[in-house]
Amino acid sequence: MSAALLPDPISVTVRAPAKINIYLGVGKVRPDGFHPLETVYQAVSLYDDVTVTDAEEWSVSTIADGVHVEVREVPDDDSNIAIRAGKALVAHHRLDDRAAAIQINKGIPVAGGMAGGSADAAATLVALDRLWSLGTADEELLAIGAELGSDVPFALVGGTATGTGRGEVVTPVEDNGSWWWVVVFSDDGLSTPSVYGAYDLLEGGDHDYRIRPQMLEALRAPANGEHLQVFLYNDLEDAAFYLRPDLQAVAEAALECQASYALLSGSGPTMLALAADADSARAIAGRLAERGYDRTAVVHGPVAGAHVVAYG
Ligand code: C5P
Repeated sequence: MSAALLPDPISVTVRAPAKINIYLGVGKVRPDGFHPLETVYQAVSLYDDVTVTDAEEWSVSTIADGVHVEVREVPDDDSNIAIRAGKALVAHHRLDDRAAAIQINKGIPVAGGMAGGSADAAATLVALDRLWSLGTADEELLAIGAELGSDVPFALVGGTATGTGRGEVVTPVEDNGSWWWVVVFSDDGLSTPSVYGAYDLLEGGDHDYRIRPQMLEALRAPANGEHLQVFLYNDLEDAAFYLRPDLQAVAEAALECQASYALLSGSGPTMLALAADADSARAIAGRLAERGYDRTAVVHGPVAGAHVVAYG
């Protein structure tokens, strides 16, 4: 049957990945309050699934499949970034009478520095575009995403990519590795603006924060296995450790548990430990659990950006 004869779907489910920043260089705060960044994003195997159906009014509900994910801080009103994404798409196409019911199944920790909200926004944009057969061009989705949050364009693109501007200018990079990480969750969230604020006080951004070309080479040619760990870096780490000294202890424990390297994920409080392979990652997670760090996930990257997983 030709695509033209297929009926419009009643529902569409889109899966979007969590991101980690394997390099995060931060410059001096700009007049608009954002910080110029040079970052290397990697999409990893923790996902939010977003299902949309046509409705009279906008609504959003959230459940959690993720073992360590709590949904109590996720807003269920128009302030939810998924509804903001839906309304932005509708405004872009001047379809003001449209609305949708959005269901989010969270596998990405909330306020964890892994861009779960951005994943929901990206997934909602793609899902509604398909539900209503809008045919929105990729560049338009990226532009709408950038208005919603600095990390939304990357959640659309996925894989491994550099981020510049305030993080919203995304350029895919060749990554031939399969990188294994132990993600260590935190019981409490850490607000992104407060970490950037502490960064301004402690560091200010007066330094060379550019991505080194050798790092991109380490991703392109991963046969040289231990190479990547040399380039892992996060400029926000001192600020996050200042606000949350317990996070430094997580990094130290991960290294003692034989991680190749440990660093803050984004603006935290989630921590990342690089492992040599899947088995080592599971072994590191086991050792961390013995030390009381039992809220962990073993993930790999890069994985795909927001993509349809079901039509209903
Ligand atoms: O873009 P997003 O909504 O994710 O940003 C949340 C907050 O994080 C911003 O309001 C700002 O305080 C801080 N931020 C920043 N510089 C960036 C990205 C985010 O200062 N490049």
